[in-house]
Amino acid sequence: MPVQTIPSESLGSPNNEQIRTWCSRLEAGEVLYFAQTPVPIPPDDLTFLLSQQQTSSSLHKNIAYKPDRDKLSGVDEKSAKPAEVVRMHEVMRRYSKSIETFLSGFLAPYERRWRLDYASFRPLEEKGRDLPVRRRNDLLHTDAFPTRPTRGWRILRFFHNIHPSRTRDWVIGEPFGRVVGSFTPGKLSIPRSDSPVVRAGKQVAQATGLATLVPQWKRGPYDEFMMRLHNTMKEDSVFQESCVREEVQFAPGSSWMVYTETVPHAVLGGQFALEQTFLVDPAAMVTRESAPIAILEKMAGAKLG
Ligand SMILES: [Fe+2]
Repeated sequence: MPVQTIPSESLGSPNNEQIRTWCSRLEAGEVLYFAQTPVPIPPDDLTFLLSQQQTSSSLHKNIAYKPDRDKLSGVDEKSAKPAEVVRMHEVMRRYSKSIETFLSGFLAPYERRWRLDYASFRPLEEKGRDLPVRRRNDLLHTDAFPTRPTRGWRILRFFHNIHPSRTRDWVIGEPFGRVVGSFTPGKLSIPRSDSPVVRAGKQVAQATGLATLVPQWKRGPYDEFMMRLHNTMKEDSVFQESCVREEVQFAPGSSWMVYTETVPHAVLGGQFALEQTFLVDPAAMVTRESAPIAILEKMAGAKLG
């Protein structure tokens, strides 16, 4: 089963062995699911978030909070009311902090071995969104950041369905090792490590800011492969129609977390979700061989970092 339900009674004081089991299940490609979120949103914050769709301000779009700079983005500050922007900033800061605090205990082996990445608020209805293929959420894919390489660090995402009555509907694919095997070596090849000349060129591009113009110059072989895998999966209609998949419905008020760079996923429907991303050091894995960089390096017989 790709989804493991965590009973609420086991959250009280889990022992080390239990915590390591949860980590290894996540690392192997399972979704850890909480039927009732273990991190409740304060009622006033929830009311504020759910009211966004009805307002005329431009707070409707996907909103991102960057904890390292305490910065909110995705808000059109020209048309949004200043008080709403301030309120949204406070709500997102509080949400980000609460998830970090919870996971510091729940996933103790990873603590201080992760970087707290962006949090996001997703108020739009996912069903029927009109987006270009590579940006569609309803096609199975593994996550990769186009402009922010992770260099092998894993993308762990904690989600929360805050819609009061609707499920958030996902589809989940097979584990990474099996899926990647269906694309490579036929449709995708694992790039070789950059030559010293190419590596030096990329370092110059990054130091001078030129790499912001050409995102590929920021990527080493690992991130290049992960980006190509993301794009190829979405663009391969045969894969989309014929791959092994399971439909999952996440209940209103529930939370779940998953390594989204390895678990193929798609969002078919739902509205109003919160999410917090962590980048986790692959060396912190309970089962290091499960990290995608370890799997790809084994397949390539070479270092990709
Ligand atoms: Fe995704």
